[in-house]
Amino acid sequence: MQTRKMTRADIDGAAKLEATVLDGWSASGIFGALEADASRCFVAENGGEIIGFCAFSVVANEANLDALSVSEAVRRQGVARDLLSFALRDIYKDGVRNVFLEVRRQNAPAIALYTSLGFEAAGLRKNFYEKPSDDAIVMSKKLLLHG
Ligand SMILES: CC(C)(COP(=O)(O)OP(=O)(O)OC[C@H]1O[C@@H](n2cnc3c(N)ncnc32)[C@H](O)[C@@H]1OP(=O)(O)O)[C@@H](O)C(=O)NCCC(=O)NCCS
Repeated sequence: MQTRKMTRADIDGAAKLEATVLDGWSASGIFGALEADASRCFVAENGGEIIGFCAFSVVANEANLDALSVSEAVRRQGVARDLLSFALRDIYKDGVRNVFLEVRRQNAPAIALYTSLGFEAAGLRKNFYEKPSDDAIVMSKKLLLHG
C-alpha cells in the first residue's frame, strides 16, 4: 500500500469509494477540492486501486478535515491511520499547526480513530448532519513536530 498526494488520475477511484459512505463526495466535489488552492487531498492506493481518500481545507495555520473514507474490504488494517499520519505530516510542512474536524456523534469507528491519533473533543454542533440526522462532535488536534 502507498499513501501519497492525490492527482487527477485518482478522482474516479476516490469518487467510487466516497459513493459507499455516508456524506460521501461526488466526483465533481472531489475535482473541485483537488483544484482549489486551499485544499489538500491524499489517497491510499493498493495495486492501482484507491482504498483510502481524505481531503483538508487549509486557512493560514489551521486545517479542517473535510472528508475521509477507507474501502470496506480493508477496514481495521491501519489504512486510515497511515493515510492521516502521512497527510498530517505533509500539511505540517506547509505550516499547519491546528487541525479541526466534525464527526457524526454515532460514528464510533471514526471517533475511535481520531481519538487514537490524539484528537480531542472540542465542541458539539446540534443537528449538524442530515440523512440521517445527527449531531456533530467537533474535534481538534495541535500538530507537533514529533506528535
Ligand atoms: C472511519 C474509517 C475511515 C476508519 O478506517 P480504517 O482504515 O478502518 O481505520 P484504521 O484501521 O486505520 O484504524 C485505526 C484505529 O482507529 C480505531 N478504529 C477504527 N475502526 C474502528 C472500529 N470499527 N471500532 C473501534 N475502533 C476503530 C482503532 O483504534 C484502530 O486501531 P486498532 O485497529 O489498532 O485498534 C472507516 O471506518 C470508514 O471509511 N468509515 C466510513 C466513512 C467515515 O465514517 N469517515 C469518517 C467521517 S468523519
